Amino acid sequence: MTTTTSSREFRILAGKSEERLLNSFFVLYKTARIMEDNNPTFQNQCQSFFDCLREFVDDGGPVIIKTVGERYFVNEKLVRFDENGLSGASSVVQEWKTLGVGGVSFKSTIALDEVRKFFRFVSRIKPNSLNLDSLSASLKTHSMSEVGFLARVEVNADEPMIPEEVRRHFRKTARTTFFQATKVVEEVMVNTRDKKEIGIAKTKRVIHSLIDHITRDESSLIELTAIKDYDDYTYAHSTNVCVYALTMGVRLGLDRARLSHLGFAALFHDIGKVKLPTDLIRKPDAFDENDWRQMQQHPLLGAKTILRNMKLDTHTVRAAQGALEHHVNNDFTGYPRLVYKDRPANLFSRIISIVDTFDALTSGRLYLKKSIPPDKVLKKMHYQMKVKFDPFLLKIFNGIVGIYPAGSLVLLSTDEIAVVLTNDQENPGRPYVKIIGNRAGLLDSPEWVDLSRGDQDHRQVVRMIDPDHYGLDIKDFILGD
Ligand SMILES: [Fe+2]
Ligand SMILES: [Fe+2]
Repeated sequence: MTTTTSSREFRILAGKSEERLLNSFFVLYKTARIMEDNNPTFQNQCQSFFDCLREFVDDGGPVIIKTVGERYFVNEKLVRFDENGLSGASSVVQEWKTLGVGGVSFKSTIALDEVRKFFRFVSRIKPNSLNLDSLSASLKTHSMSEVGFLARVEVNADEPMIPEEVRRHFRKTARTTFFQATKVVEEVMVNTRDKKEIGIAKTKRVIHSLIDHITRDESSLIELTAIKDYDDYTYAHSTNVCVYALTMGVRLGLDRARLSHLGFAALFHDIGKVKLPTDLIRKPDAFDENDWRQMQQHPLLGAKTILRNMKLDTHTVRAAQGALEHHVNNDFTGYPRLVYKDRPANLFSRIISIVDTFDALTSGRLYLKKSIPPDKVLKKMHYQMKVKFDPFLLKIFNGIVGIYPAGSLVLLSTDEIAVVLTNDQENPGRPYVKIIGNRAGLLDSPEWVDLSRGDQDHRQVVRMIDPDHYGLDIKDFILGD
């Protein structure tokens, strides 16, 4: 038996507790099939799943683990969950499909014994001879009243995964957080230049807001990185690098403490530039040899500045390392020349190196005084510059930016022009866009369209276009609603 539902009910993305519970659930499901009752691993995993479950039972309601379409949920919260991971979730879900099962519900009063009994029970399920009703009856026969199976739910593919109003809310809060971060970088950098006291508590708070935001919705912050039109690009560049680095950190599964260190290091990777002449930083022309010699001092100046002017803790030490190493390439070229050549730069520096290069080349505001479109930068990084970057990290970054990066302008097959808002990881060629114009000119009220929806087959992305070519300022469309 299956039911159909709108995905509009799923509004909130889950946190670490839900991820832990889900992982623990599928790991145990798999272990139960291959290990006997008295096996210590099985016993321990029952205990740790039970412990995870206990974190959710405070409100007295049941704890529900379910799948809808390709997504996983704990109590209606969408969990970012890699089913190719160790847990073996996909084989379990495959079996559930045959049975018509969509998930499992645990009552808050369930005891450890019944948890153990349940997993022992599921390990003996023969999918071909059973269905949801016979399974539910069988649970009763085996005196398990605190746990039950849920019917499989088919998601309506035409419903957006994140509802419109939630998406708009995310975009609004993303802006506030983004510009707060830019302001904080500016404050810290200006205070550093003026040799004033540097407090970092505020910075840490902003970084935590960025982390919160990215774990719920990564696209709306990335979209803001497309704006390059600032009087002093250094501050926005630092925020962009931080947003990209944190997005990579989240995809890599770093815990919150490490994300905070990474975000801090990314935000201040270029702090050494405050020690260089302002004329050099703002020079509108291409750098000559002497300019480059000066510019190449900024990593070392940055590391020294952080170590001398900020209170030493894990954040500042890792930031000093990031500042020092962010122009050191994977093949040990770059600058400064490091004495240690037998090991690559640390993970954070390697992440920052990739995202920094991408933002610098796409902005045309830092070293090259001419911007390169994001798709061309990615190609360049993959082919011409591939020895410079960690290949695994570059692949992850590519997945984040996608074929049509959030914030870029695209031409549709219907001769409409749209701004890319969100990349659909499962369908990278068909992003979520905001249509801003057509042959007749700009629209008074833009149309928000999810190109991955079935009713949008008539619209294809033809290519990315340069906003300057059409005399358009991308900032107006990103910030204009
Ligand atoms: Fe730099
Ligand atoms: Fe930079």
